[in-house]
Amino acid sequence: MKKKVMNWIIIITMIQSVPLSAQQVQEITVTAGKPVSEIQPTMWGVFFEDINFAADGGIYAELVKNRSFEFTLPLMGWRLVRENGTGRAVPTFYSPANNANPHYISVYVDAESGGFGLSNEGFRGIGVKKDNEYTFSIFARNSGGSPLRMKVELLSPKGEVLGGIEMSGFTSSWKRYQASFRSSATMLKASLRLIFSGKGTIDIDMVSLFPSDTWKGRPNGLRKDIIEMIADLKPGFIRFPGGCIVEGRDLTNRYQWKNTIGPVEERKMIINRWNMEIRDRQAPDYFQSFGLGFLEYFQLAEDLGAEPLPILNCGMSCQFNAGEVVPLTELDPYIQDALDLIEFANGTTSTKWGALRASLGHPEPFNLKYIGVGNEQWEEQYIERYKVFEKELQQKHPEIKIVSGSGPSSAGQYFDYAWGELNKLNPALIDEHYYMPPDWFLKNAGRYDNYDRSGIKVFAGEYAAHGKDAGEPESRNTWISALAEAAFMTGLERNAEVVNMASYAPLLAHIEAWQWRPDLTWFDNLQVIGTPNYYVQKLFSTHRGTHVIPALTDGKSITGADSLYASATLDKNASMVCIKLVNTSSSVKPVRINLEGLSFQATGTIETLKAKGLYEFNSITNPKLIYPSIAQVTVSSKKVDTNLDARSVNIIVLEYKK
Ligand code: AHR
Repeated sequence: MKKKVMNWIIIITMIQSVPLSAQQVQEITVTAGKPVSEIQPTMWGVFFEDINFAADGGIYAELVKNRSFEFTLPLMGWRLVRENGTGRAVPTFYSPANNANPHYISVYVDAESGGFGLSNEGFRGIGVKKDNEYTFSIFARNSGGSPLRMKVELLSPKGEVLGGIEMSGFTSSWKRYQASFRSSATMLKASLRLIFSGKGTIDIDMVSLFPSDTWKGRPNGLRKDIIEMIADLKPGFIRFPGGCIVEGRDLTNRYQWKNTIGPVEERKMIINRWNMEIRDRQAPDYFQSFGLGFLEYFQLAEDLGAEPLPILNCGMSCQFNAGEVVPLTELDPYIQDALDLIEFANGTTSTKWGALRASLGHPEPFNLKYIGVGNEQWEEQYIERYKVFEKELQQKHPEIKIVSGSGPSSAGQYFDYAWGELNKLNPALIDEHYYMPPDWFLKNAGRYDNYDRSGIKVFAGEYAAHGKDAGEPESRNTWISALAEAAFMTGLERNAEVVNMASYAPLLAHIEAWQWRPDLTWFDNLQVIGTPNYYVQKLFSTHRGTHVIPALTDGKSITGADSLYASATLDKNASMVCIKLVNTSSSVKPVRINLEGLSFQATGTIETLKAKGLYEFNSITNPKLIYPSIAQVTVSSKKVDTNLDARSVNIIVLEYKK
């Protein structure tokens, strides 16, 4: 039988009415009628950072790399092409098309009969799909000689022309030209070639190629397949733009949201801080075009139904790099950026920044509720600056919840210091980060059991289980990591009274251009795949519930004794109870769930995620090696009996009678 559940075609395999297996049965009591605490709609969200080519070359659908020739080497990504013609391509910046990104290329063409031009390699190739439409655009100016003609061609790696158009009639002042064509084939690594003929000089800038099938069909839009993958998580929030990218390697390289709005050609491009950061994974061609800027981030949050959570620079660059700090007396511009951002997101159209938002096509406010001050800063430098931000923001915008950082570690001197100081202040949430081995996650499923219920709430803002794989310098998204995260997440859920937000990090990585791994979702230029960790996140986030309910053995939380982890939620809107059960042992575990407090329909479902081996992972050629399956369970005499597979993550969903 085939059933469509939340965008997954899942095969209902069998009815799981047990005999329970011979091992000792673990009894679990789920008191469905006794909500312990609310679960915030923001509970499970996503952490977006432009790392691993997640923005340019990733969700930002632009296919041309270095489109405005602003890379340190202006012709990086471009190659000269001679087709029986000669010429020169000279980078320059006098009398530019715009001052923010002044470089352009003067192409001197001597090709009365043949052609001369340039070809762009895209982001590790240009991914195109058969019959899809592509929109080409360019800023151009004829700066002397006879009128030139330009052939625009999409080429396969073998040099076959897959599609293209011709343009001519370039005027002597800068003007944008645009035309569309289709691709005759699907190709992972196509290239874009511009061939000029005639004799003269043409200046070119902002050479762009976009697929027409972007997310929601928006021009300057986002890659649809990847955004759909994120949307399937139903994230409660989206944190952006990072991560360390907020801080910058130094302050000139920090993220400045005001440079990321308005006409794309005027968004000043800068180097991406991950460009040369990781020794073994350097990417000299990694820059930030800001085609994906703050308006697009807010729009995406709105599209996803997720709370936008922008994180802003607090007057400090990354303490792992330059560690620059802005004197406390000079923080005003940084604070003003935060205040202006709130106005940009929420202000009426009669305010300066609200009016700008409206002029950019979004008169309705974005209803921003949260703002993060700093990313992963530590020690006094951070707290001193945080205090200044908090005072100003709370005075002018008491309605905005402030998220503060607690440094890069899950415990220790910096972490304790940050919590100690922040406890004297008023952040709504404190952001905790942990990139730790799988075993840490298993041992920490009870981490939040003893956090103060009435204290500052926690944002588990960056976490992922990192192991060392045999022969590999960094971890992959193996089943062992996903299993450990699932076990830990039962602890986050059980403590939803304390943990109001959580996000795996990072969200995305280009298979050929990553700097950091593991990552939740991987893509190449044509496909996107979910990792086991992605499916764990999805199981939790699409079964969030509205309230935590007790799931206990012998009156105690289930946090790893006998390799079992459990949590349970009630969804008052959908009349559902969801019980998450993670069996980390190498054998099947029979469990009996005793349901107290409500009456249930006779059948429910159990969704299971498991793998044959702990070190298996999904890949572009085998993207669903580890993928959820669903079966039915029966409720009989207020009990559900089931055998949990070895090393499996399970979610039992039961409908209760109103
Ligand atoms: O998620 C990758 C990086 O890890 C983030 O940029 C940073 O906040 C953390 O150190």
